[in-house]
Amino acid sequence: MRLRYKSWAIPEMQENEYIFFDPIENKGRWSEIFGNDNPIYLEIGAGRGRFAITSASQNPNINYIALEMDANAFVYAARLFKEEALPNLYGVRTVAQRLLEFFTEGEIDKIYINFCNPWPKNRQHKKRLSHPRFLELYKIILKKGGQIELKTDDRPFFDDTVRYFQDSGLELLDVDYDLDANKNGNIVTEYETKWRSQGVKINYVKGIF
Ligand SMILES: C[S@@+](CC[C@H](N)C(=O)[O-])C[C@H]1O[C@@H](n2cnc3c(N)ncnc32)[C@H](O)[C@@H]1O
Repeated sequence: MRLRYKSWAIPEMQENEYIFFDPIENKGRWSEIFGNDNPIYLEIGAGRGRFAITSASQNPNINYIALEMDANAFVYAARLFKEEALPNLYGVRTVAQRLLEFFTEGEIDKIYINFCNPWPKNRQHKKRLSHPRFLELYKIILKKGGQIELKTDDRPFFDDTVRYFQDSGLELLDVDYDLDANKNGNIVTEYETKWRSQGVKINYVKGIF
């Protein structure tokens, strides 16, 4: 779903102390920014932020960073982050391709990717957030033993993703082709709500490096 362009989205987010834009100065300093040594979980493609805000409010001993490139969606996440003012949640408006500019080696404990664009055409596959070229970046910023969890409605994309995980050296801890909405404290995202309401099965994979 492409959201209408909002000329006010970026200026509004620039006034929001919970949102960083391309924060190269934070690389290697995220624990300092959160003010503690708690684990840091990164969500990539956070959209309107429901998953991140629910996760952060339910888990105060984990720090969360929600990353998203689309200001038109992320401005709603930014509003929520400011309203809730949680000390363990920040947003970053940027593209995942630039992760190594903002995170140092082993700075992240877990990565979540929820309902990212499946890019079905062969020539588009390299844009997939689970493509091996992204997994290479994730492996660098994740601690040894760091995990990646991914959910999607799209079965062909999911099957490719499971293969990408295996080919990139991730050990599969869980593969589920019909994720129960309540399994292991699953936190439902905006897109997940939409797909579940249409009876679409949700695929889930968890891997560890
Ligand atoms: C289909 S939406 C899902 C949003 C949310 N995760 C959910 O489940 O409701 C996928 C999101 O990933 C973002 N995205 C896709 N590629 C990205 C990239 N390379 N860097 C940052 N965000 C990206 C898109 O802008 C979009 O907001």
